[in-house]
Amino acid sequence: MKKIVILFSGSGTNLENIIKRLHGKELIVAKAITNNPEAGGIERARRYNIPVEIIDHRQFSEREEFDRELVASIKEVEPDLVVLAGFMRILTKVFTSAIPNAINIHPSLLPCFKGARALERSYASDMKVAGVTVHWVNEELDGGEIIDQSCFHRGDTMDFQEFERRIHSLEYELYPKVIRSLLTRGGPGTSGGESQ
Ligand code: GAR
Repeated sequence: MKKIVILFSGSGTNLENIIKRLHGKELIVAKAITNNPEAGGIERARRYNIPVEIIDHRQFSEREEFDRELVASIKEVEPDLVVLAGFMRILTKVFTSAIPNAINIHPSLLPCFKGARALERSYASDMKVAGVTVHWVNEELDGGEIIDQSCFHRGDTMDFQEFERRIHSLEYELYPKVIRSLLTRGGPGTSGGESQ
């Protein structure tokens, strides 16, 4: 079975959703790595016996140093795909040149609302559609090539809680679908491509 590594920083609901839907069935989540020792996702991953590694970014004085440690930890398990699920760190060339097969999910229709508080900014905007994007990771924050998106049309009366709920449910559908399709059909930087 193909192997993935999941990177996360927060509550880890996407991490848990991927584990529940795919782990042990279509792929193996070989490891989950967080930069945040307080992340709620640690407990979630451990509940499914997924090994969790904590690499606290505050222990490193430079981004590159943190990235080197992260790359070394990822390479230990040689994953077919690296999946960022709420991983809130800007990555440097140290990461992107060593790990070309990393994808991220972002809670907006990129290229709109890159960066922090995307959900809030998307809600506050006058756009009539909202959605989520899965993209390849590069050094530009939320700037890598788009792989897939899904969206909904928002009514005039939708409150923030409902908006947030809709965004998360799109994430829970789209991310496993993209991961499955990249691992089966391959794509740039994955090892799932056709052999000649
Ligand atoms: C998700 O909504 C994800 O799209 C977002 O963080 C949340 C993590 O939630 N990621 C970004 O904003 C990346 N720029 P989770 O920890 O419950 O999966």
